[in-house]
Amino acid sequence: MHDSVSFNTLNHQAFRMNTPDFHLKHLMKAPGRLTDFSLGIPGFFFDFSRQRLDSAIRTTLNDLAKETGAAKKFADMAAGKQINVTENRAALHTAARGFLKPGLKPDEPQILSDIQTVARNIRLFSEKIHTRRLTGTRKKAFTDAVVVGIGGSYLGCEFVYKALKAVQHPTPETRSPTSPCLNLHFLSNVDIDNFGQILSRIDPDTCLWIIVSKSFTTTETMANLAQVQAFLKRHHLNPEDHLVTITAKGSPGDDPANPVLASFHMFDFIGGRYSVTSAVGGVPLSLAFGYDMFERFLAGCARMDRHALEAPVEENIPLTAALISIWNIQVLGYGAQAIIPYSSALSKLPPHVQQVYMESLGKGVDNNGIPLPCPAGSIVFGEPGTNAQHSFFQLAHQGPAFPVEFIGVLTPGYTGDQATSKGVDNHQELWANLIAQTQALAEGRNHEQPAKRFSGNRPSSVVVIPDLSPESLGLLLSFYEARSVFEGFVLNINPFDQFGVELGKTMASGIRRQMADRNAGKVSGETSLDPVTAFYLNALFKGRIDLGIGDQKNR
Ligand code: F6P
Repeated sequence: MHDSVSFNTLNHQAFRMNTPDFHLKHLMKAPGRLTDFSLGIPGFFFDFSRQRLDSAIRTTLNDLAKETGAAKKFADMAAGKQINVTENRAALHTAARGFLKPGLKPDEPQILSDIQTVARNIRLFSEKIHTRRLTGTRKKAFTDAVVVGIGGSYLGCEFVYKALKAVQHPTPETRSPTSPCLNLHFLSNVDIDNFGQILSRIDPDTCLWIIVSKSFTTTETMANLAQVQAFLKRHHLNPEDHLVTITAKGSPGDDPANPVLASFHMFDFIGGRYSVTSAVGGVPLSLAFGYDMFERFLAGCARMDRHALEAPVEENIPLTAALISIWNIQVLGYGAQAIIPYSSALSKLPPHVQQVYMESLGKGVDNNGIPLPCPAGSIVFGEPGTNAQHSFFQLAHQGPAFPVEFIGVLTPGYTGDQATSKGVDNHQELWANLIAQTQALAEGRNHEQPAKRFSGNRPSSVVVIPDLSPESLGLLLSFYEARSVFEGFVLNINPFDQFGVELGKTMASGIRRQMADRNAGKVSGETSLDPVTAFYLNALFKGRIDLGIGDQKNR
């Protein structure tokens, strides 16, 4: 990408952006600014009128997409080609929502039938749990399920669960103690306090444990599984009644010698961070809300998938968002971006997008192994508004600038009475803040006192969804997936591998060995440890920090 004609043109066009005429407060005054710099499909609106670009730059960005073949690569992906070039795999998360570009792949019928079989099994399993045809060891109905997994094996599911759960508002009259829907809990971190907290919220007899790991070797998940197995044993509960596995065919967890209540397969052609719409999200979300609700979520994803595949470059929402991101990072040089949903229900969207985006785009070389001249991707972070305004927005307004993506929901889940304060209800207050923030960032303000001056000209976009229905959440999820994938395609990097997480894992295994040796009372090879590592090991085993003894001679 970096040696393409369009990228070169963009760099020239960027000079203009530093002239006063191109300050956002002027750009925003152009007639038709919103019409020209926004896109929409039913259920999803994307406004990028407050991004630092004009029509000429937009045209060059579209040329860049065409020059780099982004749309063709997306079509190849949806058709099951081996687009994950470093791991020689397809990336077919779109197929999980019943959407696969037909006729392009010889083994397509098999892929589709495998996906359908898993989907059917998820439906049957959740129905059996809900109708109490499957019960625990002591024949009590299940009330809770703990999802044990990390990274892509949990973040997306947690986002959707928390969003759907937040808009269920049962009143004391409608709240049923006999509801067949299960409460979900998430055990991801290896921190034993997480496990302890979950234990305080569940009844061992009525709890299902869903172990989600594609590899079934991830250290954190395996350590937590060991806790779960010991816990079941302590309570004289049978794993065959309480354990469910979601893993790849042939993984160490896919072992008939260790029978479980139910097991579901994850496919080689769906990567962890893109797996919410596979069994990874399907099993827990169906247990929590019923399979029909999950299917509505899939339908929302499929709608955005189809748009991403079929819309021309100029009208393609996730592709446009990806191009703007490239403009902001690669040309204007912003090193971070924030995702701020003005909806508490979407509180777990930023961490999910953080993984999808940063694991997909945090790469140092292109698909030919050539180092990138400037970093791909950027830091993604976020919190719901208005809370974010009262934590890090000071820096957003007067510190180093970064683009912000605001997400607004037109209708909240809560339909009860609302009091008004200062003439508006809470939902209107939320929107007043969202709108004001985009204005303030763009326009800034002059003031005689330097500390009260705002430079403005800080870019932002706004995504609007009508509500928090499963369909809307599906549109949102698929938008961020497609946007990340498109950005990788334009940059000519592989958005589907994650070799960057390996080094830390490898180093942890050496340290773990040292700890295990000490636990076993063996004289370990401590002398080979560097002084800082030795200091931390000593502190951990002694349970105290001996100040001033971090150096070698005092060990
Ligand atoms: O964080 C790295 C990662 O490999 C993710 O990509 C993946 O989603 C997660 O770990 C969990 O992997 P697994 O499903 O194999 O336990």
